[in-house]
Amino acid sequence: MSDVEKTVFDIPGGLPPRATDAGSVRDPDSAIQAHALAGEQDVETSLRPKSLDEFIGQPKVRSQLDLVLTGARKRGVVPDHVLLSGPPGLGKTTMAMIVAQEMGASLRMTSGPALERAGDLAAMLSNLIEGDVLFIDEIHRIARPAEEMLYMAMEDFRIDVIVGKGPGATSIPLEIAPFTLVGATTRSGMLTGPLRDRFGFVAQMEFYNDEDLTEVVLRAARILGVTIDGDAAYEIASRSRGTPRIANRLLRRVRDFAEVHADGHIDLGAAKAALIVFDVDDLGLDRLDRMVLNALIKGHGGGPVGLTTLAVAVGEEPATVEEVCEPFLVRAGLIARTGRGRVATSAAWNHLGLQAPPEAPGAYTEIHQLEF
Ligand SMILES: Nc1ncnc2c1ncn2[C@@H]1O[C@H](COP(=O)(O)OP(=O)(O)O)[C@@H](O)[C@H]1O
Ligand SMILES: [Mg+2]
Repeated sequence: MSDVEKTVFDIPGGLPPRATDAGSVRDPDSAIQAHALAGEQDVETSLRPKSLDEFIGQPKVRSQLDLVLTGARKRGVVPDHVLLSGPPGLGKTTMAMIVAQEMGASLRMTSGPALERAGDLAAMLSNLIEGDVLFIDEIHRIARPAEEMLYMAMEDFRIDVIVGKGPGATSIPLEIAPFTLVGATTRSGMLTGPLRDRFGFVAQMEFYNDEDLTEVVLRAARILGVTIDGDAAYEIASRSRGTPRIANRLLRRVRDFAEVHADGHIDLGAAKAALIVFDVDDLGLDRLDRMVLNALIKGHGGGPVGLTTLAVAVGEEPATVEEVCEPFLVRAGLIARTGRGRVATSAAWNHLGLQAPPEAPGAYTEIHQLEF
């Protein structure tokens, strides 16, 4: 992982979880929102790959996970606990389901925010049967007492249940069936050391390159029964910010457009016309991203500009700009974060059709290596 991505996704010391999550929701209608939109669950389910072989991209995670699972199967033990970390929409939930599927195990799902009290977790754990896969989404948001109970459960497959209050309280040890915990987090930097250390395998999901995302689009088109040309699939993929969830959503929007304005078949022309309608430009930026670039370049000569000033200029919360717009703008080599504030790179000036001043920094080398 490049340092650029590290700055963006591993915020040292962490931010308060609730502020973070509230701030990370972009304009709910934006096609390039990486979180699932309301009503998308069903279609997402139908598009999820069911096995490691079907899973596109992420070669490193896939082959490592394959080793972990195959090893466990051979030894006849439950696989090590797995932590999946990475930005929204890259396939963490899908991968958790695949772990259960590959092991022929049942999957129990919950999430960090749902485990507010240790008792909530105790109930969940005591119902597990041997080999079950317990998936805890957003595990960085688990409450501290539940987290401490989880340490013991992960390590020794037992927990201490506290009964009663005050001096009369007693702790009753409880055996837990051997299980595999799969945790998912968009903020691995917010995980405490002791929790992270208890995962035998930590997988960092990376953004997808355009070729893999093209495969994702073609596969989803097959499942949805849509015909699409290869170059049109590539066009959609290259505007999807390295994220399968966005690629699948753009495909569905383009399909709607093609049904209304053409015969339903998606060719390059239909794809391009539809993406203009949905306000997604050729780099996958939407209106808010472009407003940030405009404020930085036209309002402040390319920076450096502090985050708050930038946020005021676009009428958004600083957290939204920082967590929703910036990760992608930094990754795409359009802005750089410096000690004195945000600076537009020469690529950003060019993207707005402007000549970059000589002092504008170039896009980072690492970013080009990401093949985005
Ligand atoms: N490797 C992949 N191949 C095909 N589709 C994928 C892949 N990864 C994710 N998807 C699709 O993207 C959507 C979001 O995936 P999900 O697992 O929910 O992401 P996350 O949990 O990381 O936010 C799902 O509908 C899934 O079908
Ligand atoms: Mg998920």
